[in-house]
Amino acid sequence: MSELAGKRILLVVSGGIAAYKCPDLVRRIRERGAAVRCVVTRAGAQLVSPLALAAVSGEKVHTDLFSLTDEAEIGHIRLSREADLVVVAPATADILAKMAHGLADDLATTLLLATDKRVLVAPAMNVRMWEHPATQANLVLLRQRGILQVGPTEGPMACNEFGMGRMAEPEEIVAAIAGALREGRALAGVKALVTSGPTYEAIDPVRFIGNRSSGKQGHAIARALAGLGAEVTLVSGPVALADPPGIRVVHVESALDMLAACRAALPVDVAVCAAAVADWRSETPAEQKIKKGGGRRPELALVENPDILATLAAGGASRPRLVVGFAAETSDVVENARAKRAAKGCDWIVANDVSAAAGTFGGDANTVHLVTAEGVDSWPRLGKDEVAARLVGLVAAALGGGRTR
Ligand code: CTP
Repeated sequence: MSELAGKRILLVVSGGIAAYKCPDLVRRIRERGAAVRCVVTRAGAQLVSPLALAAVSGEKVHTDLFSLTDEAEIGHIRLSREADLVVVAPATADILAKMAHGLADDLATTLLLATDKRVLVAPAMNVRMWEHPATQANLVLLRQRGILQVGPTEGPMACNEFGMGRMAEPEEIVAAIAGALREGRALAGVKALVTSGPTYEAIDPVRFIGNRSSGKQGHAIARALAGLGAEVTLVSGPVALADPPGIRVVHVESALDMLAACRAALPVDVAVCAAAVADWRSETPAEQKIKKGGGRRPELALVENPDILATLAAGGASRPRLVVGFAAETSDVVENARAKRAAKGCDWIVANDVSAAAGTFGGDANTVHLVTAEGVDSWPRLGKDEVAARLVGLVAAALGGGRTR
C-alpha cells in the first residue's frame, strides 16, 4: 500500500480492551512505510504497555499533557499538527464523547481538539454502550465534522456478550488509513464553491420571507469536498449549524448577498448550489416595522431574485468546470429536474423529493436522483453525509478525468 509510504501517523490509544492489538497495528503501519507516534491515555496505558508501543514504533510514547520534558521536546500542538493523519484506536465511548463535545482534559483529548488534520476513529466498546443513543448521537456529530470511522464489527466480546462493538481488525484499520490518505489528495489544488441553507428576504427590520432549509446537505458537501483536499468557500444563508473547520465560510442573509459572495469567490473549478434560495424578495422592504391595526391588509410587492445557479453556469470564461445544482421538488421529481438542468445550463442536477412525506427538509436523510447529460442515476435513501460523500466522489472523478460536460 504505497499510500502509507513516507507518511506520519499519530496513533491515539484510549482505554478499550482492544488496545492490546495496538502493537500489531503499529507494526503493520510501519511495514507499509509510515512512521507512527503513539499517544496513550491513562486508561489505555493500563491495557497496553507504553514500553511495548515505544519498542514497535521506534519512537517515544507520549502519555502526559503536563510533562515538562515532553512539552519541551515537542509541544502538544506540534504533536497534533505534524501528523498526516490522526488515528484513534481503540476509540472508547468516553473518548468519542469527549471529542464530540470538545473536552480536553488530557494529552490525547487536547491534541484531538487542537489538530487540523483528518481524524480516523476505530470505535471499540461493549454492545450496549455502542447502541446507547448518546454514543450514536456523538458519532453523528463527529461524522458531520468530517471524522472518518472504521468499524466496529460484530462478534463475541471480552465482556462475554455478543454484538456490535468489536474494534476493526488491524488490517482493516490499515486499509482505512490508506483510504483516508489516498482520498485526502483526490481534490488537492481544486477550488470549490458551495451554497447552503435558506436565504432570508427582508419584509421589514424584523420580518422576512424564508424557507425550511437546514443547510445540512450543503454543509455536508462542503465538508466532503474539503475532506478530499479541495479549497472550499461555503456561502451559507442563516442556519443553526457550526462553521465546518478548515473551510472559508461566508455568511449571508439574502439572495442578492449570496450572489455577490459567490461572484467574489470566483474563479473556482466546481460550484455546488445546494442553497434553497428564496425565489422572490420584497421590492421595497419597509425601513420601520410594519404596524398592524385599522383593519388594513398589508400588501407585499415581490420581485424575482436572480438565479445564482444559472448565473454561475452562464459565467462565460469564469464558468466553473463543473456546475452542480439541486432540484427541490414535491412531484414529478425527475422530469422537473431534467427541465431545470436544461433551463439553468448546469452540468448535473441532484434532484430530491422535498414533499412533507419525504422528510428531507431538516431531516438527516435524502433520496436523490442524479441527472446528468448521460441520464438519471437514482440512489437509495442515504444519510446526507453519505449523499455528500458519493456526490463528491463523482466530482473528483469528473474533474480528474476532465469529463465535466
Ligand atoms: N437556485 C439559485 N438561485 C435561485 C433559485 C434557485 O441558485 N434564485 C438554485 C438552487 O440552489 C438549486 C437550483 O437552483 O441548486 C434549483 O432550486 P429549486 O428551488 O429547486 O428551483 P427553482 O429554480 O427555485 O424553481 P422552482 O421553485 O420553480 O421549482
